[in-house]
Amino acid sequence: TGMFTYDPGFTSTASCESKITYIDGDEGVLLHRGYPIEQLAEKGDFLEVCYLLLYGELPTAAQKKDFDYRVTHHTMVHEQMSKFFSGYRRDAHPMAVMVGTVGALSAFYHDSTDITDPHQRMVASLRMIAKMPTIAAMAFKYHIGQPFVYPKNDLDYASNFLRMCFAVPCEEYKVNPVLARAMDRIFILHADHEQNASTSTVRLAGSSGANPFACIAAGIACLWGPAHGGANEAALNMLMEIGSVDRIPEYIARAKDKNDPFRLMGFGHRVYKNYDPRAKIMQQTMYEVLEATGHSDDPLMQVALELERIALSDEYFKEKKLYPNVDFYSGITLRALGFPTTMFTVLFALARTVGWIAQWNEMIEDPQQRIGRPRQLYTGAPKRDYVAVSKR
Ligand code: CMC
Repeated sequence: TGMFTYDPGFTSTASCESKITYIDGDEGVLLHRGYPIEQLAEKGDFLEVCYLLLYGELPTAAQKKDFDYRVTHHTMVHEQMSKFFSGYRRDAHPMAVMVGTVGALSAFYHDSTDITDPHQRMVASLRMIAKMPTIAAMAFKYHIGQPFVYPKNDLDYASNFLRMCFAVPCEEYKVNPVLARAMDRIFILHADHEQNASTSTVRLAGSSGANPFACIAAGIACLWGPAHGGANEAALNMLMEIGSVDRIPEYIARAKDKNDPFRLMGFGHRVYKNYDPRAKIMQQTMYEVLEATGHSDDPLMQVALELERIALSDEYFKEKKLYPNVDFYSGITLRALGFPTTMFTVLFALARTVGWIAQWNEMIEDPQQRIGRPRQLYTGAPKRDYVAVSKR
């Protein structure tokens, strides 16, 4: 009933106009502001991609220098934040910590929350991009019971993050540039992906005029699920569960079985009906990281490569156009970098923050923007009269 188009999962509804990211799912193409992801990942760095997503153009050398400086000098969080952390159970999932802590930023930065002021919006945006690695590293340190490491502003974005995660007070820590470059590339691969579930969540939350830090917290909550950002964690857990190449056919059979809820994690995508271009770059990054960390013979890599090979030659996967997505190879890579599975989605959130905030800015500036308010097809009881409890 009603004159609304029924579109569960929004498979055919455009919720906005956007100039930020273009995806051709049939061809496996991903462009940010027109630039192919392959070129950005190979030749650019993450902060350059952040600038591109936020401002629409690649920065000039002077603009880049200024932007890098501004981001790397907003990395500190208020010292009171560290007290906030100690309120979490120490075995809390780091994504739970992220949802809460990023939401709490809304209580710390009142001076950048007038969303009608473009300057304040940009300050809030830079703050979020700059502080997310600090908060993510704090969530990690809290998770493993080590003291927080403060940011070091003369390091580049990825190196600073790796240092905050892996330095310990009793030892010298030197960032391996190969790993820093790999981390940076992983951030680039996750920076934006048009109107996915978490980005749509940020836009919808923001459409009411809500506090931007709180909107990002909403995006993090949405990203957490295993069908979305949680898939990288689920994919590695799956590879570990499979454990050896000889058990792959059993799992392929389960994935094809209609009566078994099991899915191949890191496979399939709502938009890509072809190889996810990010998965190819991620696979290359995986090789580089495994080599640099002395794990080139990682048995899980063998399982992943063989699983991909078998799935891609299987009728079920061919017919449904299921290919590896960005999360398929990210787990092995992140594990080799030293992260536990529970941190994987946190890293995704860190990197996606720029996409969320760029999309949020675009929405606020859009003259057609109105509060997001989907309609429904009502299928409940017709009007009826209240019955006293004694008569029911
Ligand atoms: N393994 C086995 N079968 C699958 C899989 C899979 N990974 N993905 C989809 N299918 C089947 C599904 O059973 C359905 O079959 P049928 O038409 O017979 O019912 C068909 O393919 C279409 O699936 P769908 O669930 O209707 O497709 P969707 O567009 O709603 O879902 C998806 C997309 C990514 C949620 C889904 O492919 C999936 O669950 N994949 C595993 C989780 C995953 O890797 N997620 C990461 C996505 S990329 C990063 C991100 O966005 O965060």
